[in-house]
Amino acid sequence: MISRLNHVAIAVPNLDAAVARYRDGLGAEVSAPQDLPEHGVTVVFVNLSNSKVELLHPLGENSPIKGFLEKNPSGGIHHMCFEVSDIRAAAEKLIQLGARVLGDGKPRIGAHGLPVLFLHPKDFDGTLIELEEVAG
Ligand code: CO
Repeated sequence: MISRLNHVAIAVPNLDAAVARYRDGLGAEVSAPQDLPEHGVTVVFVNLSNSKVELLHPLGENSPIKGFLEKNPSGGIHHMCFEVSDIRAAAEKLIQLGARVLGDGKPRIGAHGLPVLFLHPKDFDGTLIELEEVAG
């Protein structure tokens, strides 16, 4: 069902410092920061030849990663995102198997303008999993 690893998202306490480490230290191609107010994050994409890393920094008071950074003040891996071709079929199958889909269980439009959903970390070995529907 899942295919490519679309991205690994890392919550970072200091976005400028993280950008400098990836761009200047690791020599990666790094995007300009993008504010995504509807997701409560500012994101920087680290573009790799086979995948992406997303550096997430809280935006606004209700940011979903604020609590994560309070528990992990030096930052940490927040979630991994796998690609699927049919997100509704994936959700149906996972719910049948007893996995919990976060929120109302329905896909919503994610940071890349594509349908996404999140699976409860307790059902996946302590890892928050994002599924993103990617055409073809
Ligand atoms: Co993501």
